[in-house]
Amino acid sequence: MIMSEPAQRIEADSEIPVDHEFLPALSVSDVRPGQPKRATIGDLELTIYNLGGTFYATEGYCTHGRAHLAEGYIDGTLIECRMHGGTFDICSGKAVGAPCTVDLKTYEVKVEGDRILVAVPRQGPVGQNA
Ligand code: FES
Repeated sequence: MIMSEPAQRIEADSEIPVDHEFLPALSVSDVRPGQPKRATIGDLELTIYNLGGTFYATEGYCTHGRAHLAEGYIDGTLIECRMHGGTFDICSGKAVGAPCTVDLKTYEVKVEGDRILVAVPRQGPVGQNA
């Protein structure tokens, strides 16, 4: 039986798909616990969170409307949108509180020194900007 190649191959030495790369978003000192922070990598808007010293990244805007989640409120592991009070789980991106029903995209994060790196889709073909 011939198996088809998976849609997203994973690099052997990391947990991110080969069409993603880690790029710097913010400094560790920029993101205080309980205070979501806006970041931009290329055209990608992100919100970065510090939950007890562990960093997370989601897409920047609420899936219900045009409110940036960096202006929202962290409650435990939830982010509450300032616009209509919808909530998402920061770790999984899952929409957990009305009126939000569409999950957030989440991104892998790693810390190197004082830099927060986020795994984002590569801008060009795989291997082009290595
Ligand atoms: S815009 Fe976020 S809950 Fe409506």
